[in-house]
Amino acid sequence: MSKEKVFTLLEEHRGDYLSGNYLKDHLGVSRNAIWKAIQALKAEGHDIDAKKNSGYRLSKDSDVLHLASLQDALGKDHPYEVHLLTEVPSTNTWLKELENQKNNTLVFAKKQTAGRGRQGRSFHALDEGGLYFSLLKTTDLGSYNPSLVTMACAVALQEVLAEAMEGLVSIKWVNDLYIHGKKVSGILTEGSLEMETGAYSSLIIGIGINVNTQSFPPELNDIATSMALATGKTFHRVALAKKILAKIEAYLRLTKTDPETLLARYKQHLLYLGESILFTHEGQEKSGQLVDLTKEGHLLVKRGDHLLTLHSGEIRIRKGDTP
Ligand code: BTN
Repeated sequence: MSKEKVFTLLEEHRGDYLSGNYLKDHLGVSRNAIWKAIQALKAEGHDIDAKKNSGYRLSKDSDVLHLASLQDALGKDHPYEVHLLTEVPSTNTWLKELENQKNNTLVFAKKQTAGRGRQGRSFHALDEGGLYFSLLKTTDLGSYNPSLVTMACAVALQEVLAEAMEGLVSIKWVNDLYIHGKKVSGILTEGSLEMETGAYSSLIIGIGINVNTQSFPPELNDIATSMALATGKTFHRVALAKKILAKIEAYLRLTKTDPETLLARYKQHLLYLGESILFTHEGQEKSGQLVDLTKEGHLLVKRGDHLLTLHSGEIRIRKGDTP
């Protein structure tokens, strides 16, 4: 009997005790086999508590990334082919290099040794308390607006993280999530274009969240934080992943069906709106006032008498000095 089956039952009843008899009858195995499975799960790091006359209980806070719990959380009819890697350079790169590029391949990694961010930057993903995953889409891409995909993911993340932490989370244009001026999460969306038609043939959405990360390398201390550091609590990554994926799917469709609503939600949590910002544009450091978001998701910045539209490609923004 696989320990996965025991785990699945405990996960379904997380926080409650299940008696040895219940497990035995449900799985049709001996009590000894159940005991061995529990020992194996504990050795993997799951927080399982055994109590005489009550049975076994998976703690509400137990947070080990586990394929069975991911499968379980996503539900019976989920559309994904789920992979969980112990270590990989980058889940986005892993999907890019897959031989069989199957729609809805979803890959999680416990850690990444060369996590990538936008504009060739790196994303620190060595800490095993983070949540790092990438989703591949190869069909039905016409039903998304590619230029709003990153923003759709940002709104999905903002809503799930803010719900878990009771507020706190803002979006820094275009793909970062911030808590109290420090980055907690980033999104890297990458698409492949069909040469003949100019249409997208595949889309990879990569999400990195500092969830239960307790420390960062010194050079990141001032600029990065985690959900745990910001709140003093720990979070259940599998449950977060489930909610994020459901919202991403819904908001991807919104990029085409109702982009106005999507952009309005994005704008609601956008950092620096109405404030003065500094940005690098065409290689030059400039300043202006962030006045709005265009319907294409670009930034409208007022500089003197004229308005400048900033596209995501080259720009880095940060808060300017208050006049
Ligand atoms: C950024 O900081 O600009 C975006 C960071 C995106 C990180 C995620 S983690 C999962 C996926 N794999 C990667 O290499 N990057 C993304």
